[in-house]
Amino acid sequence: MNLTRAKKICFIFSLSFLILISDSVQKTSFAADIGNCLLCHKYPGLSRVDEEGRMRLFFINESIYNNGVHAKVKCEGCHTDITEIPHKAAKKVDCLVECHIIEPTTETKFSHKDVATFIKTSVHGKVDKIGNDKKFSEDYPSCKDCHDEPLYRPLSFFKKVRPGISEASLGRCRVCHKKDDFIYQFYNHVTTRLHKSRNPLNIAEMCGRCHDDSSLVTRHGLSTKAVFSYGETFHGKAATFLDERVPDCLDCHVNKGESVHQMLSHKDPLSSIHETNKGKVCATIDCHPSASPKLANYGVHSEFNLTQSPAQYFFTFFFIVLTGGTLLPLMGIIFLDLVRRFFPHATIGRRK
Ligand code: HEC
Ligand code: HEC
Ligand code: HEC
Ligand code: HEC
Ligand code: HEC
Ligand code: HEC
Repeated sequence: MNLTRAKKICFIFSLSFLILISDSVQKTSFAADIGNCLLCHKYPGLSRVDEEGRMRLFFINESIYNNGVHAKVKCEGCHTDITEIPHKAAKKVDCLVECHIIEPTTETKFSHKDVATFIKTSVHGKVDKIGNDKKFSEDYPSCKDCHDEPLYRPLSFFKKVRPGISEASLGRCRVCHKKDDFIYQFYNHVTTRLHKSRNPLNIAEMCGRCHDDSSLVTRHGLSTKAVFSYGETFHGKAATFLDERVPDCLDCHVNKGESVHQMLSHKDPLSSIHETNKGKVCATIDCHPSASPKLANYGVHSEFNLTQSPAQYFFTFFFIVLTGGTLLPLMGIIFLDLVRRFFPHATIGRRK
């Protein structure tokens, strides 16, 4: 099939369909949507199969968008090349683009360039100290590898976004400030930044995209089990049950007070998990404040297999056998009891 033609047909088809129904649909009140992009992009069916045979979804879920961190950025703020409607194919978005907002302490145009600087000096930087590309530089994460807002993904329609507003604390601001708009705006600005927006499980999954890819990590001489082993320990198990009090990858791998983008190798003496610093990580106030530095000898990335940690292996094995050995016979007894209750006269074989 001629794909370019199919693409054109799809485009014309979706366009005429949209124009047909757009008259009957009320215009949405959308603060950032100055270019009226959602006129077309709010329709869930806006999609096509691309040249490589992959399904592409062009639908933007308005409520997810409005709850996301970029809600106040208008579409053209990132899709800077789209200047006319109907528009042509879009270029890739540059996360480091400068916008018109002025950051108050430096009075320069706001952008995420600082994050790029942090990453450059971290273990995830693509270039080495002299400025040469590191080996396999395509393996290193770019912004979009770690930050894919659910906005662009079809399967996350149901994802709830945490607003980060506590009604109880808002009451404190209302004592002196009388306009709710003002309170919400500033309160939200500050408080959403005081907690993580992802839970430990989300973070582990995000990192797992690469750190679970055994060929990728082997190329870099790293353990293939960093994410798996996290899941094996108590921290990871609690994270699977969506407990948010346990440490995620960042709580251990980032020095307190630094950006999450400044992670370092465990061999780097400045790293939070370097031999000499590990103890301090466990003993932080939110975790194990009275722990001695020795606690850090506990293998947070150990797998409970026979060769690495035989004691834990047999311990786990014993409990699996114990649990299975108790539960299974019990369930059998309950089953037999139920059979007798429901079919009081049932017999196996014929009664003489
Ligand atoms: C008249 C309807 C319409 C309007 C208005 C519209 N779009 Fe689109 N847009 C489409 C269609 C249809 C596609 C799918 C095109 C295709 O098949 O490649 C699309 C695709 C896109 C893509 C993906 C293109 C690619 O090649 O990856 C982006 C990004 C995009 N639109 C952004 C915007 C932005 C930003 C605005 C507002 C400034 C906007 N659109 C307004 C109809 C529209
Ligand atoms: C914070 C920046 C940002 C804002 C604001 C933004 N987008 Fe995007 N958009 C992206 C990125 C990043 C991608 C992924 C593709 C890429 O790298 O260019 C994308 C992809 C898309 C796609 C293509 C999806 C696909 O699978 O190829 C569409 C359509 C789109 N955006 C429409 C919109 C519309 C409509 C708005 C406004 C409601 C909007 N975007 C606002 C950054 C943004
Ligand atoms: C290795 C993965 C990774 C890469 C690469 C990455 N980020 Fe992040 N970023 C994170 C994580 C994790 C968070 C914290 C998420 C949370 O709060 O739940 C974060 C948070 C942020 C924040 C919020 C402020 C903060 O530090 O908490 C901004 C802004 C940001 N990233 C921008 C970027 C930009 C721009 C790039 C590309 C230059 C980038 N990030 C690359 C993982 C990454
Ligand atoms: C006890 C009274 C009081 C409480 C409670 C209070 N504020 Fe204020 N706030 C003030 C006063 C007075 C000013 C003006 C200070 C000045 O100009 O030096 C102010 C200034 C501000 C400003 C700066 C405004 C500007 O334009 O410079 C912001 C933002 C702000 N408050 C937000 C909040 C938030 C959010 C809360 C709730 C967490 C809060 N305030 C709670 C009394 C209070
Ligand atoms: C796009 C792929 C990718 C993603 C996503 C990614 N990493 Fe990495 N990471 C790498 C590569 C490649 C290295 C090897 C860097 C080197 O040795 O030069 C690395 C190295 C590391 C190291 C250093 C290991 C050591 O001690 O030597 C840590 C720690 C790390 N990553 C943690 C994380 C965390 C936490 C996340 C999630 C927030 C994450 N990574 C997401 C690719 C990725
Ligand atoms: C409780 C603290 C803690 C948590 C949580 C944690 N790590 Fe680690 N990580 C460490 C320590 C300490 C080391 C140093 C090696 C060791 O002691 O096992 C390490 C080592 C690593 C290494 C290098 C291993 C090697 O030898 O190649 C990678 C990669 C890594 N961690 C990634 C992650 C990722 C991804 C997550 C989240 C899924 C995570 N870590 C969660 C503490 C932690």
